[in-house]
Amino acid sequence: MDQAEDLPLNPARPVLTEAIRQVLSAHIEQLCGIHLGPEKAYLLEHRLTPLINRYKLAGFEGLKERLVNRLDPEIRDRVIEAVATHETAFFRDRHPFEALRLTVLPQAAKRWQATRDSLGQRPRPIRIWSAACSSGQEPWSVAMAIQEWLPLCGVPGLAQGDFSILATDLSPPVLSQAREGIYTEAEVARGLTTGQRARFTVQLPGPKPRFQIKPELRAMVEFRCVNLLENAKGLGLFDVILCRNVLIYFTDALKRQICEMFHSMLMPGGYLILGAAESLFGITESFQTERAGDTLLFRKP
Ligand SMILES: C[S@@+](CC[C@H](N)C(=O)[O-])C[C@H]1O[C@@H](n2cnc3c(N)ncnc32)[C@H](O)[C@@H]1O
Repeated sequence: MDQAEDLPLNPARPVLTEAIRQVLSAHIEQLCGIHLGPEKAYLLEHRLTPLINRYKLAGFEGLKERLVNRLDPEIRDRVIEAVATHETAFFRDRHPFEALRLTVLPQAAKRWQATRDSLGQRPRPIRIWSAACSSGQEPWSVAMAIQEWLPLCGVPGLAQGDFSILATDLSPPVLSQAREGIYTEAEVARGLTTGQRARFTVQLPGPKPRFQIKPELRAMVEFRCVNLLENAKGLGLFDVILCRNVLIYFTDALKRQICEMFHSMLMPGGYLILGAAESLFGITESFQTERAGDTLLFRKP
């Protein structure tokens, strides 16, 4: 007999039963909106097993006990972190940032200029919200795009201090990387040109190359922990909301609820920018669609 045949298969591997999968999936969806149907059982098993081992829990039953019955906040944060996808990059998909430079920022600047002319004084800053910003590459890219665009914008007096970017995510660990603004060489190479790297980051001393976003950009972005399932209207009104590559994990009903909230949080004429593969088709008709190059923009009338 082969020696391996004596050994049980994966002795330490906890088994996820369909009954527990249903309870865990429903609870996760309630916590963060991520919808994990039966076809995602493998993903759930794969992503949660390391957590079960790390916290020495009694399999998925033990995890359910801590997460659902005892509402343990540490386990809750770890579970959300494990099931959420944090994939991101500087200037991800590139074309939305072209739309920002060519359409979205000029429109916002025009409104800012008209308000200044009618008030006879500096209006409130142009507000941009990067909702679900992951480790920060998206809001930093917006700040960089603004800095590159400002000298060419043709609006006299409009300066960096007239922009304010709010970046939020549900996950505290990714938010703390975002807030620090420190990235490896590989992360920086995903999206930044060498010119942008030199202009917008400083290399930190140490054995491995690491790059930190420069202070003048860091002054433009505020980071906060925000769950999109909760009412975020207290954050105020925005000229632009970016919510990219997160709604795809939600049900249509939840997409609708969040997009209606975004609608109520945009200034008239403000823009919602979704991920390249996302659309509001069949979700809401509250926005006008506008094509800017390869990007479909959603505008509040
Ligand atoms: C794939 S990343 C997208 C990052 C960036 N927007 C981009 O497109 O590159 C998705 C992010 O959504 C966050 N997220 C998931 N559910 C959320 C929720 N209910 N509220 C806020 N953020 C959430 C995750 O923590 C994750 O960092």
